[in-house]
Amino acid sequence: MPVPGERGVARMDRSAAVNVQELEKGYDGIMYNALIDEYVDHSDFFNYGYWDQTTASQRQASENLVRQLLAFIPDRSGTILDVACGKGASTRYLLRHYPPEAVTGINISERQLQTARRNAPGCSFYLMDATELEFPDQSFDNVICVEAAFHFDTRERFFREARRVLKPGGSLVLSDILMNRAAEQRRTFRTERNYVRDLAEYRQVMRRSGFADVRVVDATTNCWHGHYWGVVNFFHQRFLAGELDYDGLQRFLDRTYKVVPDIEYYILAAGRRE
Ligand SMILES: C[S@@+](CC[C@H](N)C(=O)[O-])C[C@H]1O[C@@H](n2cnc3c(N)ncnc32)[C@H](O)[C@@H]1O
Repeated sequence: MPVPGERGVARMDRSAAVNVQELEKGYDGIMYNALIDEYVDHSDFFNYGYWDQTTASQRQASENLVRQLLAFIPDRSGTILDVACGKGASTRYLLRHYPPEAVTGINISERQLQTARRNAPGCSFYLMDATELEFPDQSFDNVICVEAAFHFDTRERFFREARRVLKPGGSLVLSDILMNRAAEQRRTFRTERNYVRDLAEYRQVMRRSGFADVRVVDATTNCWHGHYWGVVNFFHQRFLAGELDYDGLQRFLDRTYKVVPDIEYYILAAGRRE
């Protein structure tokens, strides 16, 4: 395994359309916010999660999401790469199935990686862009990516990189958000080049990136709608209890309301390298 690091940073600086430094700053700002931290029950997850009738909290939903994705992997032995691992909560979850030496995480934020190292001790973490993985061919048995590919420049480049670093027979499993074209054009930290219209086109992109047995499942209701109610409810409870003022309520809700017209699908996807 190479030790990425300096080279990874230099490569990221050349990113044309998505400004990775700004993206990193944006995520670090929100992911280290005290109230968000409370909302996620100090779990360090930062995703919509997968909600069903029994889900009582964002922490549970986020754990459900990783469990759902791991269920796509037929053989959970060997090594696994956690792409865009955030603060390492998904990586920590992987330790339920894998020994630490089998788990590697990458992210574009050194601050998040520092937290990840505490959350998942013994795992390897590198500063690296998902679309320019610096691992040799066929390094991992499986690759997971929880709710991040909508930022990549592009998904297809990531899929090809994921395929390259997978061993034959290995799976890529991921959750992802598809926005409409107008949103892709308008929103910060995204590129229109990454626009994928629907589940059928998503399957095509995965297939032409070299994946077989491609499965793409619509999880919009369980993930995006579930999270919507969870987060809106949480902030209203705080407001009613007098723990959040009106401006605070509006600021937090605005983040959620803003994406409502933009999101078309929340998907779970999997493909196998032949
Ligand atoms: C919504 S968060 C998900 C974090 C984590 N997977 C989780 O479920 O808690 C998206 C993450 O993607 C990371 N990210 C965005 N663009 C990236 C890229 N090009 N390469 C690697 N990581 C990236 C961000 O830093 C952030 O941690």
